[in-house]
Amino acid sequence: MSKTLVIVGHPDLENGSIANKLIVEQLAQQEDIEIRDLIRLYPDFRIDVETEQQALLEADTVVLQFPFFWYSVPAILKHWLDQVFCYGFAYGSTGDKLHSKRLIISTTIGGPEESYQSNGYNSFSIDQLLAPLKQTANLTGMIFEPLVSHSMVYIPGVYNVKEEVEERAREHARRLVASINSPNRMKEELADAAV
Ligand SMILES: Cc1cc2nc3c(=O)[nH]c(=O)nc-3n(C[C@H](O)[C@H](O)[C@H](O)COP(=O)(O)O)c2cc1C
Repeated sequence: MSKTLVIVGHPDLENGSIANKLIVEQLAQQEDIEIRDLIRLYPDFRIDVETEQQALLEADTVVLQFPFFWYSVPAILKHWLDQVFCYGFAYGSTGDKLHSKRLIISTTIGGPEESYQSNGYNSFSIDQLLAPLKQTANLTGMIFEPLVSHSMVYIPGVYNVKEEVEERAREHARRLVASINSPNRMKEELADAAV
């Protein structure tokens, strides 16, 4: 039975989230998923590295669930990566512990899709902006699988309609669950490509 670990990198899932909260609630209804909400576990940012590494060792699929902040991951998730993906565990001559696990980058993005292109107001594509995470997967031998949704920010009277953001979040959760439940897809594609 394959196991999925979901690392939640939202700074305030309980009181400051619409999209990620809804997505995490949907994930919580699935079997064989461990959800670790970093800010709840480590409000003081003092990550228990051993516990986090153990959770990673037990998982086949790792989901990083986060809101896109300043074209990157929120601070708590960056700190988790800095602490937990360390030499000898995630990389280096004996750092093969994450090898061949799936890394699903599941992120909610405030801006609309069309803004993420060279002539849009965000100038770069999401593929380009996710390059550091893609290379993190490369270096650690993980299988990189991005899953993004746009127009996920709700600012009353300014941006979007709350119900529409919620529907997009539910759709994101559906895609994420489907992706988690097809664990061999990427491996099969890789095997096909090698033939
Ligand atoms: C500090 C901060 C930085 C953000 N940076 C970006 C950004 O770089 N690009 C973008 O499209 N949206 C950005 N947003 C919008 C968030 O991505 C959006 O609010 C979030 O995905 C919604 O998820 P939530 O309802 O779970 O909080 C930012 C929001 C905050 C609060």
